[in-house]
Amino acid sequence: MQLRQVVLTGDRPTGRLHLGHYVGSLKNRVALQAQHDCFVMIADTQALTDNFDDPKRITESVVGVCKDYLAVGIDPMKSTVFIQSMVPELFELTSYFLNLVSVARLERNPTVKSELQQKGFADSITAGFLCYPVSQAADITAFKATLVPVGDDQLPLIEVTNEIVRRFNRIYCKEVLVEAEAVLSNIRRLVGIDGQTKACKSLGNAIFLSDPSEVIRQKINSMYTDPNHVKVSDPGRVEGNVVFAYLDAFLDDKSELDDLKSRYRRGGLGDTVIKSILNDAVQALLAPIRDRMELVKDDDIKDMLREGSERARTVATHTVSEVRDAIGFGYDNCKT
Ligand code: TRP
Repeated sequence: MQLRQVVLTGDRPTGRLHLGHYVGSLKNRVALQAQHDCFVMIADTQALTDNFDDPKRITESVVGVCKDYLAVGIDPMKSTVFIQSMVPELFELTSYFLNLVSVARLERNPTVKSELQQKGFADSITAGFLCYPVSQAADITAFKATLVPVGDDQLPLIEVTNEIVRRFNRIYCKEVLVEAEAVLSNIRRLVGIDGQTKACKSLGNAIFLSDPSEVIRQKINSMYTDPNHVKVSDPGRVEGNVVFAYLDAFLDDKSELDDLKSRYRRGGLGDTVIKSILNDAVQALLAPIRDRMELVKDDDIKDMLREGSERARTVATHTVSEVRDAIGFGYDNCKT
C-alpha cells in the first residue's frame, strides 16, 4: 500500500469483542495504524437502530469494547478512537445522503436483509434501521477514508457508500467526497463454535477476547466437528468442521496444519487431539491480550474517548462545511 491514507472502521458496542472481530478486522487495524491515519469508531448510534429500547446494553458496552481495542494493540497515539454520538456532524451528513439512495436500494441490501432475518423483525423494520447504511456512508466519508478494514459481511455497505459518493460528486459538481475500499483479512469470516455461518455476539456462539482461559477451553471442547467421525479410526471431514476452520485462522504452522488435515481425513486422528492443539494456539494468542486488558484503567478510557471524539469532530466539521458549500448552503453562498 502506498502513501499515507485514511482508515476508518467501527464496531457496534453491544457486548465484548470476539475472535471473529479479531481475525476479521482488529488485526488489520493494528497493522494499518503504523502507516496510516486511523479512526476507530464506537458506533453507538448505529447500535441504537436495533437496540433503541435497550440503550443500557449499548452504554454498558462502550468501556468493554475500548478495553478490547487497547488490549489487542490499538494505540491511541496512532489511532483516533471516538464515539459516534459525540460527532453530530455525522448526522448532518446522513441527512444530505438520505436523498441520494432509494428505499428500494436499501431494502435490497444483503447485509440489512440477513440482519432482519436473524432478528426476526422483517415486518416491523424501523426507518432508522433501514437507513443505517446511509449513516455508515457518512461515517466513512466524513473522514475521507479510503480504507475500511471490515469482515466480508460489510461489503454491501461499502458499495452503498461508494454509490452515494459518486452521486454526490456528480449532482453537486464537486469532487468533495472520496470512494473507499474494504480491507479484507485472509480469514474472511469466522464461523461460530456451533457451526453457524458467523461467530456472533447475539447468537452466543463466539469466543470473546475477554473470556477466561477455562471458558475458552470449554468452548473449544464443545465445538462442532464431523458428526460421522465417531471413532478415532473413522475418516473425518475437514470441510465444515469448526475446529479446522479455527485452526486455519489461528495455527501459524501451516505445514503442521496440512499434516493434521490429511491425518484427520485418513482416519486415526481424534477430535480431542485437534481440539487440544487449537486450545493451545488460542490460549497463546489470548493470554497476553487478557493480561493487557487488566492493566487498562476506566479513567484512561474516558480521556481517550474525549480527546479522540474532539479530534474526530474537527475533521468531520471540515468535511461537512465542504459538503454544505458544494450543495450551495451557507451565508457566503446566499444569492441576492
Ligand atoms: N456496521 C459495523 C458493525 O456492525 C459498524 C460500523 C459503523 C462501521 N460504521 C462503520 C464499520 C463504518 C466500518 C465503517 O460492526
